[in-house]
Amino acid sequence: MVITICIGSSCHLKGSREIIQILERLITLHNLKNKVELNGSFCMGQCMKGVCVKLDGELFSLQPSTTEQFFKDEVLRRLA
Ligand code: FES
Repeated sequence: MVITICIGSSCHLKGSREIIQILERLITLHNLKNKVELNGSFCMGQCMKGVCVKLDGELFSLQPSTTEQFFKDEVLRRLA
């Protein structure tokens, strides 16, 4: 599974760095380092929806405060 986080300037200002840190922590916590790959990407052209995060090609609009829920609902569910 690949998660791509936009690190373009608009998404960066909205907390993409923090989202990456949260996801890294959750991936480690759940022992998923060999199953989930984190990537950064330049502007995805959807700045209004930032922070833009793609999971297997599907676009999600996250904030640091919604990242843990996203991880539970999407990442863990898809791996289950
Ligand atoms: S900066 Fe993230 S979509 Fe533009």
